[in-house]
Amino acid sequence: MTKTTQNAMWGGRFAAGPDAIMEAINASISFDKRLAAQDIAGSRAHAAMLAAQGIITDSDAKAIREGLLTVLSEIEAGDFPFSTALEDIHMNVESRLRDFIGEPAGRLHTARSRNDQVALDFRMWVRDQTDAAINGIESLQRALLDQAEKGADWVMPGFTHLQTAQPVTWGHHMMAYVEMLGRDASRFRDARKRMNESPLGAAALAGTSFAIDRHATAKALGFDRPSANSLDAVADRDFALEFLSAATICAMHLSRFAEELVIWSSAQFRFVVLSDRFSTGSSIMPQKKNPDAAELIRAKIGRIMGAMVGLFTVMKGLPLTYSKDMQEDKEQVFDAADSLMLALAAMDGMVRDITANREALKAAAASGFSTATDLADWLVRELNLPFRDAHHVTGTLVALAEKQGCDLPDLSLGDMQKVHKGITQAVFDVLGVENSVASRTSYGGTAPSEVRKQVARWKETLK
Ligand code: ARG
Repeated sequence: MTKTTQNAMWGGRFAAGPDAIMEAINASISFDKRLAAQDIAGSRAHAAMLAAQGIITDSDAKAIREGLLTVLSEIEAGDFPFSTALEDIHMNVESRLRDFIGEPAGRLHTARSRNDQVALDFRMWVRDQTDAAINGIESLQRALLDQAEKGADWVMPGFTHLQTAQPVTWGHHMMAYVEMLGRDASRFRDARKRMNESPLGAAALAGTSFAIDRHATAKALGFDRPSANSLDAVADRDFALEFLSAATICAMHLSRFAEELVIWSSAQFRFVVLSDRFSTGSSIMPQKKNPDAAELIRAKIGRIMGAMVGLFTVMKGLPLTYSKDMQEDKEQVFDAADSLMLALAAMDGMVRDITANREALKAAAASGFSTATDLADWLVRELNLPFRDAHHVTGTLVALAEKQGCDLPDLSLGDMQKVHKGITQAVFDVLGVENSVASRTSYGGTAPSEVRKQVARWKETLK
């Protein structure tokens, strides 16, 4: 099927309109309508600058700026007649502006191109999402801090290889994620600094002969400065790639924590109870309470990292400057941002609702010979054994306990002395899990006193 209507925006040299399939593959309005607010903000700043520079009249600028607000309220009200024939948000907005204000609308696109326009809109959108990600992360950190403060001295097993390793504290485990999320937030902050240059005024690719003031539009739109190379300004999407990279790392952290919550809430572990608000039931097994929110958070990395890989693949090998390939930059970033914000919000809600099962945590902490290292350290400290020898003696004691079907503190002193005659009653002090964690006072260690210091530091940071 061939269409015969020419495009009103660029149809001058065309005898026939696009084929319907061409229109379908070419149009981006179905998704780039999400850039409407940024598009209109950018156009309003551009119009004001054009008037201040004497490039258009003040009255035209006024009509344009007011007309754009009318367009915006129409979009916000859901009444805007989006048109696929008009391809994208930029031409949809300009065309609607013409419906409202007539001829002056045609002056808005002076000294500008859709190439710098889309680079600007998308950059501002990603900038907003970067701020939202930082807020979401900090809120989750606060939720974790509350848990850490409550359970600074609750003993639980620490794992390596998911095998019981040494006793740690609940607060210490929560604070591990506070640290990870702190780096995630700093990655977003760092990316924001680099993305905060305005591409507006780069025009199609080479700049413009009109006496525009790029510093003024940059300032009006909250940028630190205009970008210094017009080719780079319209060609690069590294700001979106940095956002996706930071999002992927953050999603990976969320995924690991989500996995722990899935394990911890199982009948086999019973470390935590997740609230009904963040769980679902089974339609066939009445006893079930499933940690669906945690599972979905665990999975979100798939689409977020997929978006990152997708955009890298679109961008690699593209010659400078703009190519239409770059229209494929948006949908995946939209989806990744939505997924990240939802995952952060869900984790935030879940963490606030977690009830830790202190008895189960403590019982698990004491099992699996978790204080074997404390025993070895005691042999080094009290009997002056070389650590390797102490390791061997402890291993023999663990094997003995295993044979007797008991834990290390349940061995008799007599049995222990058969393995090493220097062992005294005092050894039992270090075999208890509470003493074990309390002794780990090295900087960043699991001792409740250390955990409380880190909680205090983060509370100050997040104020
Ligand atoms: N819809 C386009 C995009 O998203 C806008 C830029 C179009 N520029 C062009 N020269 N065709 O990339």
